[in-house]
Amino acid sequence: MFEDLLLGPIVGGLDESRVHLWGRADHLGTLHAWLWEAGDLDGEPLTGESLPLTAENGFAGVVPFLNLKPQTTYFYALSLKDVPPTPEGEAYPSFTTFPTSGKREDFSFAFGSCFYPTTPESGQTFAAMDAHRKEHGLAFGLFLGDQIYADKYEHNGIGQVALTLQDYRDVYAHVWGYKPFRELLKNLPAFMTLDDHEVDDDWTWTDGTRTKAKIPPWDKVLRRLNGRPAEECRLPARRVQAALQAYWEHQGMHAPHFELPLNVDDKGLYHLENNEPGSLAYTFEYGAAAFFVLDTRTMRVKGKAERTMLGKGQWAALKEWLISVNDRYPVKFLVSSCALLFNMWADIAKDRWPGFPEEREYLLRFLAANEIENLFVLTGDLHSSHALQANLFGPNGDDIPLWEFCATPFEQRLNWLAKCTHNELGSEVIKNQDLRFLYLGNNFGVVNVDFGEDGKAVVTYTLRSETGEAVHSVVVR
Ligand SMILES: [Fe+2]
Repeated sequence: MFEDLLLGPIVGGLDESRVHLWGRADHLGTLHAWLWEAGDLDGEPLTGESLPLTAENGFAGVVPFLNLKPQTTYFYALSLKDVPPTPEGEAYPSFTTFPTSGKREDFSFAFGSCFYPTTPESGQTFAAMDAHRKEHGLAFGLFLGDQIYADKYEHNGIGQVALTLQDYRDVYAHVWGYKPFRELLKNLPAFMTLDDHEVDDDWTWTDGTRTKAKIPPWDKVLRRLNGRPAEECRLPARRVQAALQAYWEHQGMHAPHFELPLNVDDKGLYHLENNEPGSLAYTFEYGAAAFFVLDTRTMRVKGKAERTMLGKGQWAALKEWLISVNDRYPVKFLVSSCALLFNMWADIAKDRWPGFPEEREYLLRFLAANEIENLFVLTGDLHSSHALQANLFGPNGDDIPLWEFCATPFEQRLNWLAKCTHNELGSEVIKNQDLRFLYLGNNFGVVNVDFGEDGKAVVTYTLRSETGEAVHSVVVR
């Protein structure tokens, strides 16, 4: 039905009244979209169109719709032609808008990270997630990073480390072209954030001006030993710019509005400014559940004089959000592409929160001091999954539970170090830590949020294997 699109459709930026329908073509054009309210399929559809798809924006675009009705199912079509495509043997895909903010409605969502397809049959985890969606329903999916592996030249579709904007676009075209991924995202509203491999392995800026970037020395050595050209062994700022432009075209363009948006000019081009406070962090709500999606990557600095993961602007936005949602929302999710609580004594890369111990301690202290309750960290990246509970010391000596749910990878090599070298993190505000399970295998996570008659949320985390089978589950009351 969507043969004229190179990639997509993706249902992005969904809330109680808005949707961003995304697609990418391989030539000039305009995206046209039609929405039919379920129960009124013969009625007049809502119609919309994108800005022109141009070479500058990689022929990617969104059709935004505002003023939709809450908790309403819409069937949709998206096409480069100005007449809706005919569904052949299947209905149009659909999405359901969210409840109004604050309304206590039970729901479930899926999450996970890291997709590195290496065979024509790859993507079975997405097929399992889609089967789960059809049978049990999923309000949306969270994709927590490494949506592509731009640097993994063996199977990234271009046979080399991505160096130019066109290279990054070509990697997205290869990876996101896998049928199970496209099929899933037609009907599962998506929220995305990037991790390191959207740019390069474990990359960081070297100082806050964001003019110089680096990759770890062992990547450089390995690439040289494998006979890769010198330009694949360094990371000039223009390559980061190209990667983030491709991120914008594929993941950022359909996201909800950013907290502190980075500059995008009138051609849709994405600019980095020195010392800018902006980041790719954003928030959204599903009824009575509030989500903050961190940008742990584009503000990250690891230099001799400076070391930060979030940057000042994002820290201010995060603290303000935590305070503002704490009493208003009975359940909150802090979405971090890399793990906060999971510690490994053999973590040489120091690429996760444990590599930023002062910043992690600052966050834990802030959560404890402000008694942020019913907070769940959602994370990926490790290529090993877990549920971990910690208790924070509240200001009056009371316990404040904090959970971390990790689901990863969709499909990637597994990380045995996580299993063999996990140890407790050191923190003055943590009373005890309990690793409830750890699983090594391709997977996705499903979180159910159910509100009892007392209005309290019961949160259930179920880890599902690449065949959809439940392998672990924890219930938090
Ligand atoms: Fe990964």
